[in-house]
Amino acid sequence: MSVAPRPAVVSAPIHDVVSHRWSPRAFDGRPVEPEKLRSLFEAARWAASSYNAQPWFFIVATKDDPAAYQRVLGCFVEFNQGWAKNAPVVALSVARLNFEDGRPNRHAFHDVGQAAANLAIQATALGLQVHQMAGILPDRARELFEIPDGYEAVAGIAIGYEGHPSSLPDQLKERELAPRARKPLNSFVFNGKWGEPSPIVAPKS
Ligand SMILES: Cc1cc2nc3c(=O)[nH]c(=O)nc-3n(C[C@H](O)[C@H](O)[C@H](O)COP(=O)(O)O)c2cc1C
Repeated sequence: MSVAPRPAVVSAPIHDVVSHRWSPRAFDGRPVEPEKLRSLFEAARWAASSYNAQPWFFIVATKDDPAAYQRVLGCFVEFNQGWAKNAPVVALSVARLNFEDGRPNRHAFHDVGQAAANLAIQATALGLQVHQMAGILPDRARELFEIPDGYEAVAGIAIGYEGHPSSLPDQLKERELAPRARKPLNSFVFNGKWGEPSPIVAPKS
């Protein structure tokens, strides 16, 4: 059974690759081709970053190496392990918190997020999907992977081909099929004063 796409319902035209990116919890067991995986991290590599510090790092494992896979999966909270265990590839993003000269990098997490966004968009372009997770165990990740001081695990990442929602337990199936929702543009794009919608996003009369 093929999976129906669920593109974003937009209020202005956007690129297909953006509207078709989403975060499934149902993954197909099919492995991801190594060259495609490499492209995902290449896309992450070319993200913008403050002072071009590139504070992103990734610990990645595929099901080809079950022990390594279990170590990464074990750094996700139980809820996330429950569905992410079906993804053929799991990863953790890690931020370097300081610049080389020791000054704190206030934008380290921001830039790791930018790299992750590039990775996710590249994944969609290659027919894959990515599901990022805040629900991880950073202390376990530090211990298991010997993440040094000055670095911090940021998010979990599940990567793979989309699976069918019917593979999920009922509660998750419902969430998988629920309409995708976003706040309206005029609630977060302001002009002149906090809370005042910019005319760019004001509804046309
Ligand atoms: C940084 C970050 C953390 C997230 N944490 C979780 C998580 O722990 N568990 C989960 O199931 N989904 C998680 N998500 C997925 C979001 O719930 C999802 O991106 C959001 O609902 C928007 O849906 P969409 O990505 O399908 O457009 C996370 C997403 C991001 C970007």
